[in-house]
Amino acid sequence: MNKEKGTILILGGTGKTGRRVAERITARGLPVRIGSRSGRPPFDWDDEATWAPAVRGVASVYVTYYPDLAFRGAADKVRVFAGVAVENGVRHLVLLSGRNEAGALLGEQAVQESGAEWTIVRSSFMNQNFDEGFWLDALLSGELAAPAGDVADPFIDADDIADVAAAALTEDGHAGQLYEVTGPRLLTFADAVSEIAKAAGRDIRYVPVPSEQFLSGLIGEGVPADFATALTDLFSEVLDGRSSYLSDGVERALGRAPKDFRDYAREAAARGIWNAPAIAGPR
Ligand SMILES: NC(=O)c1ccc[n+]([C@@H]2O[C@H](COP(=O)([O-])OP(=O)(O)OC[C@H]3O[C@@H](n4cnc5c(N)ncnc54)[C@H](OP(=O)(O)O)[C@@H]3O)[C@@H](O)[C@H]2O)c1
Repeated sequence: MNKEKGTILILGGTGKTGRRVAERITARGLPVRIGSRSGRPPFDWDDEATWAPAVRGVASVYVTYYPDLAFRGAADKVRVFAGVAVENGVRHLVLLSGRNEAGALLGEQAVQESGAEWTIVRSSFMNQNFDEGFWLDALLSGELAAPAGDVADPFIDADDIADVAAAALTEDGHAGQLYEVTGPRLLTFADAVSEIAKAAGRDIRYVPVPSEQFLSGLIGEGVPADFATALTDLFSEVLDGRSSYLSDGVERALGRAPKDFRDYAREAAARGIWNAPAIAGPR
């Protein structure tokens, strides 16, 4: 099973996909190092001095950039990181990328030109944005506003991404592959929120908003302006229908179908994640 004997570094190893990749590799009995600001040694995308210590003695790396590979400057950092990794003996880089994002494409090229073996996992929007990510608070409030109109996207489950990444990191046959991974079904944001509302047994609405309103809403909630602008720009770039098609990366990598959004919503709802927050009443 393991083509590369040696430690596997998981960048973002406490995050949505990284945590799951680390669990899978540990379950296979292989050594894992978590690469994040809380890792040992710590890894910080904003502190280049942490990069060489993190990759020393490592055979393969799962590369997830934070906050987003599509943001300005991300690809340059990934290029420098990949160089540091190869200099220190890393032989295989598995990159988590985003579909139809110009910035992410540059990040992919950086990894493909690094001199290491590479695998790209190019993903659609993750289901887990709804329960582990930035849409959770909106859903808890009963209303998710997004600049997505009635555009459909094939949301993918982080478990599927992690299965693909873990296979690429531990099995032969995935080097030089670009897996464009999506869920099995196109859903609009209205569809996705409706599935969640049904699973959670609550009334939750999707409200399409123009980009400017989305941006001012984020800033009003205290999101730093540069981050809010980059996120809004990214949504404007990709939520115009260009990603409204299915891709077969999960089937190609794993020989099975991806998880349906309805199953994700049922499982997450069963954990109580979208239960209405308790309202403090009079004592
Ligand atoms: N979310 C999506 O729908 C989606 C879709 C396609 C592609 N992607 C790509 O996936 C990548 C990860 O996005 P995500 O949303 O899934 O995030 P995520 O991996 O859940 O982000 C959290 C992780 O990042 C780490 N982290 C935070 N700040 C860091 C820093 N300065 N240096 C190093 N690590 C840091 C956190 O650990 P610590 O706090 O311990 O540092 C944690 O492990 C992005 O590049 C994005 O482009 C995401």
